[in-house]
Amino acid sequence: MLVQKAIFPVAGLGTRFLPATKAQPKEMLPVVDKPLIQYAVEEAYAAGVREMIFVTGRHKRPIEDHFDMTFELEVALEQAGKQELLDIVRTVKPRDMECIYVRQSQALGLGHAVLCGQRLVGNEPFAVLLADDLMVGEPPVLKQMVDQFNDWHASILAVQEVPAEHTKRYGIVAGTPVNDRLTDVSRIVEKPAPADAPSRLGVAGRYILTPGVFREIANQPRGVGGEIQLTDGIAGLLRREKVFAYAYQGKRYDCGSKEGFLQANVELALQHADLGPGFRDYLKTLEL
Ligand code: G1P
Repeated sequence: MLVQKAIFPVAGLGTRFLPATKAQPKEMLPVVDKPLIQYAVEEAYAAGVREMIFVTGRHKRPIEDHFDMTFELEVALEQAGKQELLDIVRTVKPRDMECIYVRQSQALGLGHAVLCGQRLVGNEPFAVLLADDLMVGEPPVLKQMVDQFNDWHASILAVQEVPAEHTKRYGIVAGTPVNDRLTDVSRIVEKPAPADAPSRLGVAGRYILTPGVFREIANQPRGVGGEIQLTDGIAGLLRREKVFAYAYQGKRYDCGSKEGFLQANVELALQHADLGPGFRDYLKTLEL
């Protein structure tokens, strides 16, 4: 079965970026010239996903507007003969991409957000992308994972090694290595203290899951932080199905933190075709 649908949980309050996120969604914060959510959507599209399911909350209208047609803007750009800008605007939502919005009316956790997409996903494998994690890879990270899914027909979690002192920030997996990049997962724990962590393999915000996970999430009690955790749902799934952890090729920027967000801006600006060379020269002039 093909992975054609993706869930983007975007109902979070973004308190770590206040006051920037007081009146706008954190997913709309730009890295160089694109909002964070667009990077995640483009990654899903590049992996073959065509149905984007956004789990939103109050104050998230700008995300819906961003992926909608902006008629007045397009007419104005067309009349002004600004074809290049028109192309930029139009590629935000390719014609064969569908955007669907569902509300998470209570902030009960990531597992709960994913569960809000259950009726739209139905009985199919699906991806989950957390826009906070900006992933840069070639091929794009979700595409690498879809390729793994097509080989194994089982859930695939993106992982990377994290420093021992950071295990408290991640879902941590342990299991049996299958090859250089793949682990057959036997355990997953949400945000363990370093002493309790079964390994240092931390889950990044990219998942391909089989629909069986919905029932598992629904059956879990509240987990870490009193929240309905996706990690606990995956722990339930493990008892019935194979789940693999895949060490992706590429780089993750934790744009849920100010440091990671700034690093992403600097590094992506340096790689930007137009801005890169000038920005590099500018950085060199800084006395660091
Ligand atoms: C969530 C998940 C965690 C995962 C992380 C990746 O945590 O609960 O398992 O490792 O995303 O970014 P959050 O960062 O939302 O606290």
